Amino acid sequence: MNAPNRRSPSEALTSTAANGDFARALLAGLKATPKSLPCKFFYDEAGSVLFDRICELPEYYPTRTELALLEARASEFARLIGPDAELVEFGAGAVRKVRLLLDALDRPHGYLPIDISGDYLQGVADKLDADYPSLRVRPVVADYTKPFALPAKSPGARRVGFFPGSTIGNFQRADAIAFLRMAADKLAGGGLLIGVDLVKDPAILHAAYNDAAGVTAAFNKNILARANTELGADFDLDGFAHHAFYDPRAQRIEMHLVSLARQRVHLLGQEILFAEGETTHTEDSHKYTLDGFRALASEAGFTPRAAWTDPDRLFSIHWLEVT
Ligand code: AVJ
Repeated sequence: MNAPNRRSPSEALTSTAANGDFARALLAGLKATPKSLPCKFFYDEAGSVLFDRICELPEYYPTRTELALLEARASEFARLIGPDAELVEFGAGAVRKVRLLLDALDRPHGYLPIDISGDYLQGVADKLDADYPSLRVRPVVADYTKPFALPAKSPGARRVGFFPGSTIGNFQRADAIAFLRMAADKLAGGGLLIGVDLVKDPAILHAAYNDAAGVTAAFNKNILARANTELGADFDLDGFAHHAFYDPRAQRIEMHLVSLARQRVHLLGQEILFAEGETTHTEDSHKYTLDGFRALASEAGFTPRAAWTDPDRLFSIHWLEVT
């Protein structure tokens, strides 16, 4: 649903630039000590399907909790955002979420979804174009973790960012600040509505990333499956185990793939050795307290104006104005 940099099947087969990116990142990450892989490569077509299934899991509370919050608070968001908003969405995986917001906004002026996958983005843009005839939909094909340009702001519109799903949690603290600074710069005069997963009982967090049906494990291993199909690697998927745990000091979930044996894997003409028990770090998912996130946003050029949580304090949505 709110997957960063998700890609469509046709692009997975044809986009050599994106393939080159994946190949370079894979080799660099597996030759390093300790081994790691960037989580943005989870989202090929199979990975996006697996992520959508994660969002439906009984243990994975973030998606349904955020949707319920958006539904319950939409009119409050709309009042703070004001009329004539030009909505900039970082990642375009959350069509249900953006609809809830658009339906509540007073005369929304435009919608600018930013996504790395041109095909996927066009699909989203076409659907919203058809359903919101007076909305100026302008898709932007870009990797928002790298420098990119937005089209000029429509005259009279107020630019407002939308970044749901706690995707901000995938960034290390310094990268989260860099991302928010970039967003503050692009949203000057406006604000950002952002979904942030909260620090909570580690047992709840552990379950959310270790579901009984094994979907998160399949999602984690999909990065290896993708290396096999796209880059001709020979990973034995049964030779690796999903390992996810909550580190309460760092306030984050870490996901790893553990090599179950000493093994050699071949990819792109190179051989990578995995020791028995060696882990490859595939994702961090940072959790924040309300005050912790407010402090981060303040450091990055935003003034925190309001925050909402569900009654169980599982998830939060913040309204930040550009300082
Ligand atoms: C898309 C980054 C919000 O961190 O919860 C879900 C990705 N990883 N299960 C998250 C994810 C494992 C998800 N985000």
